[in-house]
Amino acid sequence: MEILGVDIGGSGMKAAPVNVLTGEMVGERYRIPTPEGARPEDMAKVAKQLAEHFEWKGPIGMGFPAVVRFGVMYTAANVHESWIGTDGGKLFSEATGCPAFIANDADVAGLAEMTFGAGRGRSKGVVMVVTLGTGLGTAIFTDGILVPNTELGHIEIRGKDAERRASDAARQRKDMSWEEWAEKLSEYFGRLENLFWPELFIVGGGVSKSWEKFAPLMKIRTPMVPAQMLNQAGIVGAAMYAYQHVK
Ligand code: BGC
Repeated sequence: MEILGVDIGGSGMKAAPVNVLTGEMVGERYRIPTPEGARPEDMAKVAKQLAEHFEWKGPIGMGFPAVVRFGVMYTAANVHESWIGTDGGKLFSEATGCPAFIANDADVAGLAEMTFGAGRGRSKGVVMVVTLGTGLGTAIFTDGILVPNTELGHIEIRGKDAERRASDAARQRKDMSWEEWAEKLSEYFGRLENLFWPELFIVGGGVSKSWEKFAPLMKIRTPMVPAQMLNQAGIVGAAMYAYQHVK
């Protein structure tokens, strides 16, 4: 079955049709920049354009950078604050004319990695997927089952939101060297491993392409591997999430 997967981020909205049984994108990815201000009504228009681009008529799955419970957003760290309380599932369904199912972006990327990527076959113990992008997203799997909306990018480290210190956006904003960033990341991952004792960290986000530059500098005890699906996990996982609702 094919479902349109949409990965919604603070800087871009990306979509592609996905074969949810194989985890493969079956069409070329299409990206539109997230509109300035990232307001619900403007982002709904972009969702409509994405659906139109693919002449899409079926279900759509979406990953969104916020806490999402039953389609409704409860936080808005890198999107407009008027998202809070918005029923995103309803808004995007109306805008696209297709049934839209929406969940947290890191959670859906985690679903894809656990099924088709670096977490494949890791069905015992705790695995944490951490996405390093504009925001810092987390997904926890225990015995392969997701605990949704964990939001561990916002734990406090040295009096600051961890995301402000250790996301990839923070690295770029502060023009950090890889050494400096690896130090901040080690402190962050160190905190996570002391609190959750995972078997494995899977690290995603665009910067996982530069794995060799920072991974060898990390000082943590838990094994850490790069996400395998790179920038496809968000799209594929979003489609997989929708599939759980329509199959
Ligand atoms: C948001 C999370 C999201 C993460 C990655 C954070 O700022 O609070 O919901 O998963 O960014 O986009």
